Amino acid sequence: MLLKVDNIHVYYGAIHAIKGISFEVNEGETVALIGANGAGKSTTLKTISGLMHPKSGSIQFCDKDITHMEAYRLVSLGLAHVPEGRHIFLQMTVQENLEMGAFTSKGNFDAALEHVFTLFPRLKERRKQVGGTLSGGEQQMLAMGRALMISPKLLMLDEPSMGLAPILVEQIFSIIRDLRKAGTTILLVEQNAGMALDIADRAYVLETGKITLSGTGEELAHSDKVKKAYLGG
Ligand SMILES: Nc1ncnc2c1ncn2[C@@H]1O[C@H](COP(=O)(O)OP(=O)(O)O)[C@@H](O)[C@H]1O
Ligand SMILES: [Mg+2]
Repeated sequence: MLLKVDNIHVYYGAIHAIKGISFEVNEGETVALIGANGAGKSTTLKTISGLMHPKSGSIQFCDKDITHMEAYRLVSLGLAHVPEGRHIFLQMTVQENLEMGAFTSKGNFDAALEHVFTLFPRLKERRKQVGGTLSGGEQQMLAMGRALMISPKLLMLDEPSMGLAPILVEQIFSIIRDLRKAGTTILLVEQNAGMALDIADRAYVLETGKITLSGTGEELAHSDKVKKAYLGG
């Protein structure tokens, strides 16, 4: 098991955002976490990546207890988090953004850069362009490319399709599909349940801080409850 989240409770002050969720991600799997706005998806990813810490419960990553570990240490353990809203460096060029992604990594920088440029030829064409002038889809590619510079053991993506035109959503999902095929372990958070369930080996439904359903992507895509609540009937 690569990641094991065990009965975590997470708060924002008095707000009890995550109410005892447990799930796991095995090596090579793509696991989706779906749920409505405010369900606790981003909080879950922020807690795994060490930006927040649970009040109780535990998180294991690569057989290590990471429950109280700081975010920067988790990056060096191979945990990559592409946050909601991308957060690229707007004044830096594409290539400089990718260099920042590799900052904590000891691996071979040139090989990592070549690999990212192979996955995202668009970034290669635009490597001298500053981040702020990229389109939304290109910024998402850059945020994902930056995370991939550390050759992560686990790639966590928070709503990669958010705010993108349908054609760009297709492109981003096609890249996620390629990463999955190449063996990358992925934890994908999405409001776009249809696309996420289509790509996921397994998935969990999160509702107001609790997991209410789980199964293979296919099982959930055919569940009446999921169809009604998340797939538009
Ligand atoms: N910075 C914050 N301060 C207080 N409450 C927050 C904060 N961020 C999120 N929340 C609350 O925590 C809950 C889960 O939010 P979030 O994890 O962002 O949901 P999702 O990503 O599924 O839309 C929501 O009720 C939200 O209002
Ligand atoms: Mg969110």
